[in-house]
Amino acid sequence: TTVLVLNGPNLGRLGSREPDVYGSASLDDLRAMLAASVPDNVAIELRQTDDEAELVRWLHGAVDSRTSVVLNPAAFTHYSYALRDAAALVTKAGLQLIEVHISNPHARETFRHTSVISGVATGVIAGLGFDSYRLAVDHILRSAA
Ligand code: DQA
Repeated sequence: TTVLVLNGPNLGRLGSREPDVYGSASLDDLRAMLAASVPDNVAIELRQTDDEAELVRWLHGAVDSRTSVVLNPAAFTHYSYALRDAAALVTKAGLQLIEVHISNPHARETFRHTSVISGVATGVIAGLGFDSYRLAVDHILRSAA
């Protein structure tokens, strides 16, 4: 089994970006933590991009390869209808797409209280730091045949 773990804009700066909000661990640390939390026969493919079009293409790829997705859309969460429509393609195809956030957007600025992704996601996990990702991956593996 492969699980795609996709990250949107500015998350490549994890570790140095607003450590008070996002912690001091990097995306490489996240990759290592997830790899250590799954059985040997599971591949975690973790990617990050600042590019909306690339994220859309990756979601199309998930549909084509029938791969479930853990998605941290970062700021695109709050306004990208293109990403929402691409996320809908994933869940309408019967695959899981779990929206995750490191912080709890509901405890932050008002513009973060809206997610245009949640309505087409399988579920949402937020506010648990890197555990948000780990729990999402666990869930996908539990429900995989
Ligand atoms: C985030 C929350 C978003 O509001 C923000 O734009 C991010 C990260 C999170 O993981 O907490 O870039 O998705």
